[in-house]
Amino acid sequence: MSYQYIHIEDPETLELREADDLTCSADEVIIDVAYAGINRADVLQRMGFYPPPEDASPVMGLEVSGTIRSAGETSGFSIGERVCALVHGGGYATQAKAKAECTLRVPAAIDMQIAACLPEAFLTVWYNVVVRAGLKGGETLLVHGGTSGIGNIAVQLGKSMNCLVIATAGSSDKCQLLADIGADVCLNYNEASLTEQCTEQGLLGTVDVVLDMVGGDFEQFNLECLAVDGRIACIGLMRGGQATIDLTQLLMKRATLTGSTLRRLTHEEKARCFRDVDEQLMPLVESGQMRPLTDKTFDLKEALAAQTYMSSGAHAGKLLLSCG
Ligand SMILES: NC(=O)c1ccc[n+]([C@@H]2O[C@H](COP(=O)([O-])OP(=O)(O)OC[C@H]3O[C@@H](n4cnc5c(N)ncnc54)[C@H](OP(=O)(O)O)[C@@H]3O)[C@@H](O)[C@H]2O)c1
Repeated sequence: MSYQYIHIEDPETLELREADDLTCSADEVIIDVAYAGINRADVLQRMGFYPPPEDASPVMGLEVSGTIRSAGETSGFSIGERVCALVHGGGYATQAKAKAECTLRVPAAIDMQIAACLPEAFLTVWYNVVVRAGLKGGETLLVHGGTSGIGNIAVQLGKSMNCLVIATAGSSDKCQLLADIGADVCLNYNEASLTEQCTEQGLLGTVDVVLDMVGGDFEQFNLECLAVDGRIACIGLMRGGQATIDLTQLLMKRATLTGSTLRRLTHEEKARCFRDVDEQLMPLVESGQMRPLTDKTFDLKEALAAQTYMSSGAHAGKLLLSCG
């Protein structure tokens, strides 16, 4: 028996290939993939800018939903269970391998397309906003890239914690989407400077936590909008990895600037976060209180078209590959 996966021939050529069925060790599961989530990291991997860690699958794809095809004896899962999982590469395929501790059962009320949007966003948002930046109920959260696969979950997490949520996006349509998912203040970064907009609305110096996926020239604004003891969690560099900042603000505000990449967390840290998101976030999706934004689903063999669409920036919400 064999399964299909997407092979990177070169940055502009992706091929559908076949290989023998995957096998797993005792603490792992093999998933018959229904949907794979598409992430920016996949685009960077295809272009050769983000090589996978040595122990990871060279196949793109960091998250999937599907059903258990085979389960290692200590995994605690059974064949046929509906799951979603963070995978160590290999998601762009009809079968994927995951550690049991990075696999979540999907309640019946949650659609498998929605389930594929969850692992990467749940983990990234939880680890950065809650664990590292320590967001507390009632604080003010600023989310850049609010309509992204990651950002929309952060906005909705903030609302579930009764925070005031400010979010940025690059168009009025995307700002409307942000309002629809509950953001209290939506800032269009193409309309006027963010500093100007925040000053007008009396928000400068009020933000407790920034989830920043853009960096670059927005970094100084991040510091300006922070309250005393504010925290910035940097997870992406859509506006570049170089920034000039006024360190006086860092001192005067006792600010914390932190950052992380999910791929480099230890299995233990990922497992700890997975237990937390299963308890804290999955029930919000199950009850409909959290509604992950989705944009478009492509066929597995259209992976290049899907990534080209992501690179265009026209999407809002998660892009998926149908792999079943
Ligand atoms: N560190 C980690 O562990 C980790 C894990 C997952 C993802 N990430 C990062 O999180 C980000 C979102 O990932 P994703 O997969 O959800 O991608 P995505 O849906 O394509 O999101 C990209 C976001 O960045 C915003 N953006 C793009 N160019 C911008 C610019 N010049 N100025 C301001 N905003 C800009 C976009 O907002 P508009 O469309 O409104 O312009 C969009 O919301 C990526 O940077 C990714 O690398 C990091």
